[in-house]
Amino acid sequence: MALLRIRKYPEDILRRQALPVENVRDAELQRLIDDMIETMHDAPGIGLAAPQVGVSRRICVIDVSGSEQPESAGPVHVLINPEILDASEQIVAEEGCLSIPGYHCDVKRYGRVIARYTDRDGNHQEIVATDLLCRAIQHELDHLNGVLFVDRIGSFRKELFKRRYKKSLSQAEA
Ligand code: NI
Repeated sequence: MALLRIRKYPEDILRRQALPVENVRDAELQRLIDDMIETMHDAPGIGLAAPQVGVSRRICVIDVSGSEQPESAGPVHVLINPEILDASEQIVAEEGCLSIPGYHCDVKRYGRVIARYTDRDGNHQEIVATDLLCRAIQHELDHLNGVLFVDRIGSFRKELFKRRYKKSLSQAEA
């Protein structure tokens, strides 16, 4: 397994519409999934989408157990070609993203979703998600459509974010 480089805002690949996966059993794809899980745990983060590691495909991995130790990590959800079938309730909670390090902001999301996806064995699955898993699914699915959480915080706060982020980038370079 290998750690992958996490692409950071404003890299262009984060804005692309990712393509559907056709052959789930492909060995290279299985390796990518393993590497994504390792990269997510190492970061550490609770979710990672393929575009964040430079692969414009509809795959994301989620582990909301929040453990940095792989041996005590919770069930890792591997969602391939995910779709939201139904969504209800709106909840505001703080969010961050491995591609936008150091920035957190309140984001309004659905509190309950029903999602359909293909798992890494090629089986079709349906999941009813609430709480953090529900939020993570929506956040990662956004990544597959080139959408970042800072697109969902309103134009005023987004302008503030852009200014602050640019400043932090130039400080990092200095
Ligand atoms: Ni993210």
